[in-house]
Amino acid sequence: MASFRTWHCLLAFSLLASAVSGQLSSTFYATSCPTLELIVRATVIRALVAERRMGASLVRLFFHDCFVQGCDGSILLDDVGSFVGEKGAGPNVNSVRGFDVIDQIKATVELICPGVVSCADIVALAARDSTFLLGGPNWAVPLGRRDSTTASQSQANNDLPAPTSSLAALISAFGNKGLSARDMTALSGAHTIGFSQCQNFRDHIYNDTDVDAAFATLRRRACPAAPGSGDTNLAPLDAQTQFVFDNAYYRNLLVRRGLLHSDQELFNGGSQDALVRQYSANPALFASDFAAAMIKMGNIGPLTSAGQVRANCRVVNSS
Ligand code: HEM
Repeated sequence: MASFRTWHCLLAFSLLASAVSGQLSSTFYATSCPTLELIVRATVIRALVAERRMGASLVRLFFHDCFVQGCDGSILLDDVGSFVGEKGAGPNVNSVRGFDVIDQIKATVELICPGVVSCADIVALAARDSTFLLGGPNWAVPLGRRDSTTASQSQANNDLPAPTSSLAALISAFGNKGLSARDMTALSGAHTIGFSQCQNFRDHIYNDTDVDAAFATLRRRACPAAPGSGDTNLAPLDAQTQFVFDNAYYRNLLVRRGLLHSDQELFNGGSQDALVRQYSANPALFASDFAAAMIKMGNIGPLTSAGQVRANCRVVNSS
């Protein structure tokens, strides 16, 4: 009994400490919504059974949330009336997916613990669960983010790196968010799952020289050279195992089979070559660096006292 009470005191103390210091904590909802993680896990499993690609889409959603105003659920806000959100920004429009899954999780969570859990935290948990369920690492997700009342389409256009980026541009885009080159190279390993549209890799497979010739020929089949034709045709970012979260992405880079120009930049005679080699040979190192970098990315600009807990992830609460 005494140990139970001690444990309870410790929990209460850690919750209080993190609330006071404005830090995130993996036990943030331990008493206010103890079934949260179960609800997220069950909903993500259902979504993956319906469409395996959704795991990749949910991981990307977290990245695109965190890089714009911090991890504050701003990407989830719909354009309503005069409100302009981030969904129409270049890197997001007709590309970012997963909003329905976040809505489903939120609807269940609101039934069980109304008004408590932020949309931003749901996005962070869904990204972790997707990674793990597809075979990647597991980690305790620091929680306690609140939701923004604003969004920034211009920041989404400026701060999310383009697939045409050079290595220097990638390092600086991540550096601007407090992430190191090592974090950037580890996080790019998320491209071991999911797909890209032809319009995002056309230049690379037709015009770059750092591409394996057989791979370029293969990808050109479903991605015509002329802009405007086949723009939205999909190809897997990882030609080997696009539904498994493994380290094949880095093995592809070693043989110049990166799909995006920005992917191949990580192994093109520059500063990240050695790390790419390490990740390609050591899946456990990649897994632990990826998990650590996701936690670090999840710490970009969280709202811990400002903001709100949205009732509907797509709109700011009225009044
Ligand atoms: C390093 C800079 C990055 C660039 C330039 C980049 C760019 C892209 C592009 C162009 C696509 C294809 C989108 C489409 O055609 O609709 C894509 C897909 C994807 N990205 Fe990235 N990305 C980067 C980093 C990241 C990071 C850090 C993550 C997550 C940690 C991530 C996760 C994903 C995933 C999982 C997909 C597949 C999504 C799906 O199939 O729905 N990316 N990325």
